[in-house]
Amino acid sequence: MVLKQVIVSDCEAFLDQNRLKKLVAQAAVSYVLSKISVHSIIGIGTGSTTDFFIDELANHRDKFYGAIASSNASATKLAALGIQVIDLNSTSDVEVYVDGADEINPLLQLIKGGGAALTREKIVAAVAREFVCIADVSKWVDELGKFPLPIEVIPMARSHVARELLKLGGDPVWRQGVTTDNGNYIIDIHGLWPIKTDGSLETCINQITGVVTNGLFSHRTADLVFLGTEEGVTTHKPDSNLDGRSS
Ligand code: A5P
Repeated sequence: MVLKQVIVSDCEAFLDQNRLKKLVAQAAVSYVLSKISVHSIIGIGTGSTTDFFIDELANHRDKFYGAIASSNASATKLAALGIQVIDLNSTSDVEVYVDGADEINPLLQLIKGGGAALTREKIVAAVAREFVCIADVSKWVDELGKFPLPIEVIPMARSHVARELLKLGGDPVWRQGVTTDNGNYIIDIHGLWPIKTDGSLETCINQITGVVTNGLFSHRTADLVFLGTEEGVTTHKPDSNLDGRSS
């Protein structure tokens, strides 16, 4: 009986979170439509919130040229919905990049990579003119680091990188059974909370030989966040907090 109640309440929380993800996806599609033309290329991230965004965006596939995907999974979904998927090496012109996050702080710094797509996500974010992050309110935190920080590593360097990460004071855990789209491994660093906002940790981890990149977005932050809350969708810019409501 108690177990049944726990399962029902877990299901309700899941459905509620999905409702908020769909709300922010709709808000992001409206925003993106206001920025694009038939020649535009849109960067598309990875994850469950982005999946809602792709579903909404597909209704407008004739209003833009195509999309750059940050993962094979998103590329497959885009193609299945009739959106042209473009190789990033064939363009430098990505109007806007839309993606989810695992944690977001008020400076719009992020932890990403829960879905193991962090490297391609960082690449598309680096190229895009604007980075719009979409998430339900559970991702909003005062300080980053309770979500374990994902690191993509070259497989032969896994143990070396883990030993170096230990020196940073965190607890590195190999995400066993996961291989990234680039053929690499993921190590998640637990116990880093609170992560400083000065960008030094992101830089320091990327200096370790064998690291491809890490999921801390403290240099290239989001430019705009749409957050799904019980009161509607709130919009956030760096240094502003709950500065407006878009729906
Ligand atoms: C993928 O590697 C991640 O960066 C995702 O963007 C992040 O995990 C958010 O995913 P959800 O939208 O599924 O929460």
